[in-house]
Amino acid sequence: MAEWKSEEEIGCIRRAGQVVAECHDELRRRIAPGVTTLEIDRFVERLMAERGAKPAQKGYCGYPFATCASVNEVVCHGFPDSIPLQEGDLVTIDMVADVDGWKADSAWTYSIGKPQPAAARLMEAARRAMLRGVAECRAGRRIGDIGAAIVQEARAHGCSVVSAFAGHGIGRSIHEGPEVGHTGIAGSGARLEPGMVLTVEPILVAGDGKVWIDRDGWTARTRDRSWSAQYEHTIAVTEQGPMILTCLQSAAGHAVIP
Ligand code: MF3
Ligand code: CO
Repeated sequence: MAEWKSEEEIGCIRRAGQVVAECHDELRRRIAPGVTTLEIDRFVERLMAERGAKPAQKGYCGYPFATCASVNEVVCHGFPDSIPLQEGDLVTIDMVADVDGWKADSAWTYSIGKPQPAAARLMEAARRAMLRGVAECRAGRRIGDIGAAIVQEARAHGCSVVSAFAGHGIGRSIHEGPEVGHTGIAGSGARLEPGMVLTVEPILVAGDGKVWIDRDGWTARTRDRSWSAQYEHTIAVTEQGPMILTCLQSAAGHAVIP
């Protein structure tokens, strides 16, 4: 079931969201050839601790790390490891910060050095698809409108959306209702109302979007080995429209739109 948050509660989630945004901002500068995803994982855990936050993914349903680190054909839930990232790789770092019991969730795909042209196009398509989905997070729209907008944008770039993973409500728990499908049908599903807090996190691929899970029970990869990109924000539905809770706030309090 969906939970409705008060303005004050949305403010609490935004504080967690600010920590996540700062972590991603640090990663943007630090990720380079030779860095390992385990180093990134430890770095994020330290940054969160310095900001009074906990990495909520660690221990969640038995997940063993602070971050998910998904390289190239891994679509999500990859384990951080000690393999050095190489020029041209794509790595998606997904993290959830917990501040005083409130959670915020954001994933971002980074290229290691300069991306190949096809990878750059995939990243751009995925980021645009996410923003199209976010734009639908307004009172009166339906859940299906989010996925429909995402699929339309993905197709315009010649990409598929992985349908096996969905966004979700978030708040005191990482996963709350409603489920936010990324391949929805316009006009279908629950009506969005002010106070809902959701993640929008479409995974885009150049291939057919079919995935399987490794024997570790977590790592999801494309069957056809095509690479993936994913951008995720935590969004509040407000009377004034969608409010991104996981983007950087400037000193003046303005959101810095990704
Ligand atoms: N952050 C993920 C999401 O976007 C949740 C990861 S669950 C975990 O839904 F167990 F891997 F942490
Ligand atoms: Co996430």
